[in-house]
Amino acid sequence: MSGRFDVVVIGAGPGGARAARRCRQYGASVAIVEKHYFGGTCLNYGCIPSKALLSSAHTLLAAKHAAQVGIDIPSAAPNWPNIQQRKDSIVTGFRKHMAASAEANDITIFRGTASITAPDTIKIETDEKPTEINADKIIIATGSEPIPIPNIPVDGQTVIGSKQALSLPEIPQSMVIIGGGVIGCEMACIYAAMGTKVTIVEALAQLIPMEEQWVGRLIEREFKKLGIDSLTSCKVTSVENTGASAKVTLEDGQAIDAEKVLVSVGRKPLVDKQTIEALNLQMNGQAISVDEKMQTSVPGVYAIGDAVGTTFLAHGASTEAEVAAANATGGDRTMTDYSLIPRVIFTFPEIASVGKSEDTCKSEGLDVSVGKGFFKVNGRSVAQNQTAGQIRLVRENATNKILGITMVGQMVTELIAFAASLINTTGKPDITFPHPTVSETLEDAIEDAFAQSS
Ligand code: FAD
Ligand code: NAI
Repeated sequence: MSGRFDVVVIGAGPGGARAARRCRQYGASVAIVEKHYFGGTCLNYGCIPSKALLSSAHTLLAAKHAAQVGIDIPSAAPNWPNIQQRKDSIVTGFRKHMAASAEANDITIFRGTASITAPDTIKIETDEKPTEINADKIIIATGSEPIPIPNIPVDGQTVIGSKQALSLPEIPQSMVIIGGGVIGCEMACIYAAMGTKVTIVEALAQLIPMEEQWVGRLIEREFKKLGIDSLTSCKVTSVENTGASAKVTLEDGQAIDAEKVLVSVGRKPLVDKQTIEALNLQMNGQAISVDEKMQTSVPGVYAIGDAVGTTFLAHGASTEAEVAAANATGGDRTMTDYSLIPRVIFTFPEIASVGKSEDTCKSEGLDVSVGKGFFKVNGRSVAQNQTAGQIRLVRENATNKILGITMVGQMVTELIAFAASLINTTGKPDITFPHPTVSETLEDAIEDAFAQSS
């Protein structure tokens, strides 16, 4: 098959799939090229399978603590094969749905590995003969891959990455996680709940170092209750892989034996080398450089998602897809303020933030007040036996603007989209919060922030 299209999208992850659908809705003829599975990292090895496992872990913990809410459950244990099967069937279901929906929307699907050979030409390598297609506009959405640690090779069996961690054949007795960022902390919750002895080794001074210090401290305290050991300001110097297990040696000479070692020290953009050379694409390190229209250094060629190294979030990729799709089809859209894209981490308890943190505001010299609300005094949270965490809201004193909201607690990943709508609004929001709901803790934080005099 060959042909000419108004827009060709490379990569069918959340960024590419959204861009293709939107371009089609704007009336363009569209093709999408995918070398592996529809849904990309997010659906197949990321967001969805991890949340399926987290849901099983959450249910298991609730069953184990059922006596605290007056329910006798004699024993609660994970059935790992069933947990895995459920996760896999969720993934395959969505994968089929995504491909079917692209076809139903009249998007031409090419299976194979694409590289751009000229600003309007895409070569597709398949198991059979290579194909060439042409496009007026191209959107690159090729995603990312894990960052390796040079002296710690991932063999996929004992020393693993997140992809293998989602599909382990058995629950390991013990696991050392190198990197206490987003993946490390979510995986720690899954396996600690399943009964694995988990130790996190984080190079920086706190877990989740991209969030404020109080978040890291709170999470570390809650992780301790789950039996997770967190070693911060700590680096692994070597991993001796013996096949059945590994000996992890730390900077201070301490050694930990673990059945599995998970390396989760970040991800880097994945961009086809031939494409970079053929187009002489301007790069920003390993990421594709783009302007605020998501256009690369080559007119008519756009790039979005993990490949541009901005958010490394599925919804970040989708937001960039909206901008690129509009611009590739004759519209004029500009990428919004990145701090308005909510950040969500599905740990126990969850973390969510949007806008500017208190630290960022202070480093920018802004005079701010910080209001706090606590889940331990929230009726719904107490009734649900989930009282850990708090919400902090940052108000600029001079303007009365809400600049940022950070939350740690139950269901805060659901509350953050609403909280995002408050960012950059001025004055105390006039909202009736339903009672009793977790959202009343946000009301408490608002009340507190606006009660403080500047
Ligand atoms: P991808 O989803 O990586 O898709 C890129 C696609 O391009 C892939 O399908 C790939 O096969 C294809 N491709 C690459 N090169 C070529 C080529 N040359 N030709 C053809 N096809 C090609 N984000 C969240 O927002 N929430 C979460 O809860 C979350 N959880 C995560 C959990 C884990 C364990 C991981 C690893 C990531 C998680 N993420 C999460 C991050 C999220 O998965 C990514 O940010 C998101 O998938 C990026 O979307 P994308 O479209 O840019 O790239
Ligand atoms: P990350 O950037 O979140 O965390 C990596 C951590 O490893 C950092 O805390 C860093 O300080 C630490 N580190 C780096 N080198 C180290 C070393 N040698 N020893 C010890 N620690 C070291 O990256 P992660 O967790 O791999 O996730 C990749 C991306 O995937 C994230 O940027 C995130 O955006 C995305 N993701 C999003 C999720 C969500 O939105 N809920 C869930 C999972 C992943």
